[in-house]
Amino acid sequence: MEILVLGAAAGGGFPQWNSNSSNCRRARAGDPLVPARSQSSIAVSRDGTDWFLLNASPDLRQQIFDNPRMHPREGLRDSPIAGAVLTNGDVDHVTGLLTLRERYPLAVYATPRILSVLEANPIFGVLNPDFVDRRELPLGQAVELCNPAGAPSGLEVEAFAVPGKVALYLEDTSAGENFGTVEEDTVGLRVTERESGAYFLYVPGCASLSADLAGRIEGAPLLFFDGTLWRDDEMVQTGAGSKTGQRMGHISMSGPDGAMAQLEDFDIGRRVFIHINNTNPVLAADSPERTAVEAEGWEVAWDGMELRL
Ligand code: MLT
Ligand code: MN
Repeated sequence: MEILVLGAAAGGGFPQWNSNSSNCRRARAGDPLVPARSQSSIAVSRDGTDWFLLNASPDLRQQIFDNPRMHPREGLRDSPIAGAVLTNGDVDHVTGLLTLRERYPLAVYATPRILSVLEANPIFGVLNPDFVDRRELPLGQAVELCNPAGAPSGLEVEAFAVPGKVALYLEDTSAGENFGTVEEDTVGLRVTERESGAYFLYVPGCASLSADLAGRIEGAPLLFFDGTLWRDDEMVQTGAGSKTGQRMGHISMSGPDGAMAQLEDFDIGRRVFIHINNTNPVLAADSPERTAVEAEGWEVAWDGMELRL
């Protein structure tokens, strides 16, 4: 199974369009220690031929351009992209679907809740229903990914609920503390190669480590995990915004309740932070925070990172 990181940054990307922070300025200046990162998406393939996107980022057009493996191969109309699997309805994870418009066959997998969000928004009608098949991912059930014509990929995916929050644009402020969030709003994915049993977990958005999630993470050969923020109040502290990580549905890397401390004693083959916000100091390779993360055995995903299981 092959995995390609198309975009390792959180919503807004890095540098974010309106951020003048020192790290964003370094990235714009082409500092090799602070490379730009596009918005959150990875691609997975069993054989390196047919690929499924895990989330479809607003930067998808550029991500395809930047990665020759995503280019058309033969004939006038072609793409190695067979479909997409979504982990939530956030702008950074669904708007890339609009890049895939035109009359091209694709399979889009998501929980019934997220499919209903797409259904309710007529702009996603640009994915011509004669060509694009929307398929349900029921929680807790492994489903084999199939290309639009129904041919099996050899990969199966299981969606599981993780603590999180409904997409910002769907928040219902009258619905109490969780803004009307339901279980199917934020999921993690377990992607398994059927033949070998090799698998990895992809959890780009997660507010805390539930017992169910902890059980799934223990023993995982590879984990991609929410690396949005270094600390919970980082956006407030840097003056970038008023929200904490918890308010946005994201666990932080550091601190006693952070991902590094919570997962310290877990048996995990490879642990990789992904969905990194432009305010997170680990984006700079020469930061003390990056040193600390790597000393704990974590990697920080980057655009173009390739992994094989
Ligand atoms: C998030 O991960 O919290 C969202 O993607 C933020 C956003 O871009 O709206
Ligand atoms: Mn996001």
